[in-house]
Amino acid sequence: MSILDFFQSSKVNEMDVRIRNLEKLLEEKNTEIEQQNQKIHAILKQISKLGKRMNTIIDLSNKQAEPGGEGGAQYETSQERVWSGSHGYRYVVHHANENWLETRVPTWEMLLESMPDVQSVLEMGCNIGANLKALRHLRPELAISGVEINKPAVDMLLADGFDGVRQGSIIDIELDQKFDLVFTRGVLIHINPDKLEQTMKNMAAHSNKYVLIYEHFDHEVTELEHYSRRVPEKEAGQGYQYWRDFSGLFHSFHPDWEIVREGVRMTVDAKPHNKGDMHWTIFRRNH
Ligand SMILES: C[S@@+](CC[C@H](N)C(=O)[O-])C[C@H]1O[C@@H](n2cnc3c(N)ncnc32)[C@H](O)[C@@H]1O
Repeated sequence: MSILDFFQSSKVNEMDVRIRNLEKLLEEKNTEIEQQNQKIHAILKQISKLGKRMNTIIDLSNKQAEPGGEGGAQYETSQERVWSGSHGYRYVVHHANENWLETRVPTWEMLLESMPDVQSVLEMGCNIGANLKALRHLRPELAISGVEINKPAVDMLLADGFDGVRQGSIIDIELDQKFDLVFTRGVLIHINPDKLEQTMKNMAAHSNKYVLIYEHFDHEVTELEHYSRRVPEKEAGQGYQYWRDFSGLFHSFHPDWEIVREGVRMTVDAKPHNKGDMHWTIFRRNH
């Protein structure tokens, strides 16, 4: 058989088809390996994230929280003293694992829609920054600040790059700057009722444009006694969590502020003693 005959023979055609099939198979296997690699990469990323969270918890449990916290004795109210001390510290440890992407981002997406002209924010009582992290995630260009009474919480935020966070009490802190948005979430409920007027006026004094109040609502001022009982450093005659109409109270002190939007976050599946909705109101300065 001549060489020409050989190349024209069906044997060569057969080999060609086989090689093409093998190449196709190789390509499919490569794609499979690439997909597996991507999955492994995602799992490793998840493991590294969990490792970081574990380290945070270990760091925190190695730290000692003095009763009254660093400089805690200086605070005037019992509520400030317990939050700057070991009660506040236990809260930090308990919440170190919050998945803020799920618990906070959707709410902030919705709230920011009504405040498109915000460039700077101040959270009063920011703890370890579940809200601040959601805001940084959604709007990396925002100038983000916070005030927090608990030192371990402040240290964690500073270590996480939130340079605009200060330790202090929102009742009387005076910052040399104003912000487009000043807000509290789940914080006014822990302020001594006699200091609410001063605190709310301090919120307004630090705002250029908006104040957001996001707190547990009740028609009457209601002390959550089961909560107060769980505060080991509690003092006689003091409550540590109160629900009320905080937005209404803010408006009574600032009747000239306009209500931009308000809403309710319902807690349908909460334990009976925790039943209660969070009401939120966005106020805008009129002058
Ligand atoms: C229930 S946590 C809410 C934290 C945060 N706003 C959030 O939504 O995750 C209450 C926070 O307010 C802080 N806090 C309570 N009283 C304060 C005060 N007088 N000044 C500053 N922070 C205070 C506590 O230390 C705690 O971090």
